[in-house]
Amino acid sequence: MRILGIETSCDETGVAVYDDTLGLLSHELYSQVKLHADYGGVVPELASRDHVRKIIPLIEKALHDADTRGQDLDGVAFTQGPGLVGALLVGSSVGRALAYAWGVPAVGVHHMEGHLLAPMLESRAPEFPFVALLVSGGHSMLVKVAGIGQYEVLGESIDDAAGEAFDKTAKLLGLDYPGGPLLAKLAEKGEPGHYKFPRPMTDRPGLDFSFSGLKTFAANTIRDAANDEQTHANIAYAFQEAVVDTLIIKCRRALKQTGMKRLVIAGGVSANTMLREKMQQLMGDMNGEVFYPALEYCTDNGAMIAYAGMQRLKSGEQCGLAAPAKPRWPL
Ligand code: KG4
Ligand code: ZN
Repeated sequence: MRILGIETSCDETGVAVYDDTLGLLSHELYSQVKLHADYGGVVPELASRDHVRKIIPLIEKALHDADTRGQDLDGVAFTQGPGLVGALLVGSSVGRALAYAWGVPAVGVHHMEGHLLAPMLESRAPEFPFVALLVSGGHSMLVKVAGIGQYEVLGESIDDAAGEAFDKTAKLLGLDYPGGPLLAKLAEKGEPGHYKFPRPMTDRPGLDFSFSGLKTFAANTIRDAANDEQTHANIAYAFQEAVVDTLIIKCRRALKQTGMKRLVIAGGVSANTMLREKMQQLMGDMNGEVFYPALEYCTDNGAMIAYAGMQRLKSGEQCGLAAPAKPRWPL
């Protein structure tokens, strides 16, 4: 079986062709980061227009690189939600139209299911069941995963997502959008021990997160501190350490609560080096295993949507021509 996957939920246009015996055959990604940089965040209308411009050329290239004609595919998967509605409509309209033209089924995929199954694209893939920590620009959640489509949300952010907190704090430090990776880079020059940020919601039971207080704490710290690069690097270090420690504490709790030993970490923030190092330590201590997507599949991409869509199609699922985009859609 071979399918096309399309991702357009936010500011990346991702397209991929996945084959269930040969694996990933092609993968195209266009990031709109430069387009939105001047605005300090994603401008929904500009995002939709740019997806419209890029999607067909990317699909043509992905099919060409996979040496595949649309008519030879067994289905088309697209991100149905959650995300920006105008952006989602581009991928869902193009995906369903192509499926109709090629006479194959279309299937709508939950963006976060795509993220949590992304490690399945690796040669060292986790077996079910596992606990997944999903940390992206729009979501932070801990999910108990028993199998495809068997997801129990154990906890989630009650305000900002982890990536959003990175981006907002990076902005306060004068870094460009999206600031998560830039803040992480700055933190490499930071010295530990200068600042102590809180570890929100770790002093009470439960697996929910709250990251908006860290951004406020960062704003106050930056206001009262010297305005030089070393000071900013020290603040970046302390902020990052607080987010990472909080995530570690909650993961340890989720693993203990579920009695599981396998942890999957996915979404944009899973690219963070400090998170990976500290998580490795935790899993060593707990005698468990941690799995990540390859770095290029941590952030939004079409490959994870193709993979998730393939599993959905195999279980007999497909959507009709009138399937709506779902900007808000619980996992
Ligand atoms: O999964 P993703 O591409 O998009 C969403 O679905 O939201 O995640 C993007 C988020 C952004 O907030 C970005 O700043 C963050 O992931 N991010 C990072 C790193 N790389 C990306 N945050 C911290 N450290 C990184 N290395
Ligand atoms: Zn995402």
